Amino acid sequence: MILVTGANGQLGGDVCDLLRAQGKRFLGVDVDELDITDKAAVDSFFAAHPEIDSVIHCAAYTAVDKAEDDPARCYAVNAEGTKNLAKNAAHCKFLYVSTDYVFGADGDEPLETNDVKAPACVYGKTKLLGEDAVRQHCAQYFIVRTSGVFGEKNTNFIATILRLSETHEKLFVVYDQVGAPTYSRDLASLLVQMIETERYGIYHAANTGECSWAFLAETVLSLCGKSTTVVPVTSEEYDAPAKRPINSRFSFRSLDEASFSRLPPWQDAVRRYLDGQGLLKE
Ligand SMILES: NC(=O)c1ccc[n+]([C@@H]2O[C@H](COP(=O)([O-])OP(=O)(O)OC[C@H]3O[C@@H](n4cnc5c(N)ncnc54)[C@H](OP(=O)(O)O)[C@@H]3O)[C@@H](O)[C@H]2O)c1
Repeated sequence: MILVTGANGQLGGDVCDLLRAQGKRFLGVDVDELDITDKAAVDSFFAAHPEIDSVIHCAAYTAVDKAEDDPARCYAVNAEGTKNLAKNAAHCKFLYVSTDYVFGADGDEPLETNDVKAPACVYGKTKLLGEDAVRQHCAQYFIVRTSGVFGEKNTNFIATILRLSETHEKLFVVYDQVGAPTYSRDLASLLVQMIETERYGIYHAANTGECSWAFLAETVLSLCGKSTTVVPVTSEEYDAPAKRPINSRFSFRSLDEASFSRLPPWQDAVRRYLDGQGLLKE
């Protein structure tokens, strides 16, 4: 039996949809059924469900800028919440979804899984502590770092750009942070495949190719036939509350070495996402 946390979120929701479609036995929970920060509740939940043998942990505090003003809550969910699950799931396969924000890299070289971690924001620091908890308590772990997740089940960068384009003629978007966005459906498909294997380890998984946030915004607006223009700005000019890495380019060496397929190109993923919502005009 697979436990999926964050079942109402973008990624967790898609993981549950896929497991359902494949007829797999799983339990999908979100904060209303299981608040992972409540240690006693997590202990009781696992005691009541001894059939759980795998966990796909997608729940997280994901409001990156808000976390700078609410570090305690972000830490409680991402670090302590993950520890509560990992301790109870020491006998399980444990798949933890992490982030490019555990890195704080400049430069333009693809990030290898074992590159230096230097998270520059609260969210990144707490997600890295989550990774540590998983490595400490679970022997059969997969840590999958992803970036820029977009999906139908929650708001995300693309949805925000399209919403703002309704009321703005110009949008200021950073051009000096480069990585790749990730369609939650594509990632869900990899995670569901991964949990069936024993190819444990640390992986990077995003749609392939690379782009800046500004280029992604321009692409989306153009595909949707919007006239709003994108004004590219530096991270310093944009001055978001949370500092993000300049370089989020992933190396997919570990996926290749373990014979997992890379995700499709990001342009293809964005088109499928927009098309699915009837937004594609091109
Ligand atoms: N989104 C991105 O761009 C991005 C990038 C890199 C990595 N990731 C990672 O990818 C994973 C999935 O992200 P996502 O975009 O699917 O996130 P999401 O849509 O925000 O979903 C996360 C889910 O976790 C739930 N949650 C929050 N606190 C909880 C708690 N105390 N107990 C149980 N559930 C709780 C949230 O509920 P509420 O909505 O009610 O809080 C939400 O339903 C996360 O591990 C995230 O760190 C995401």
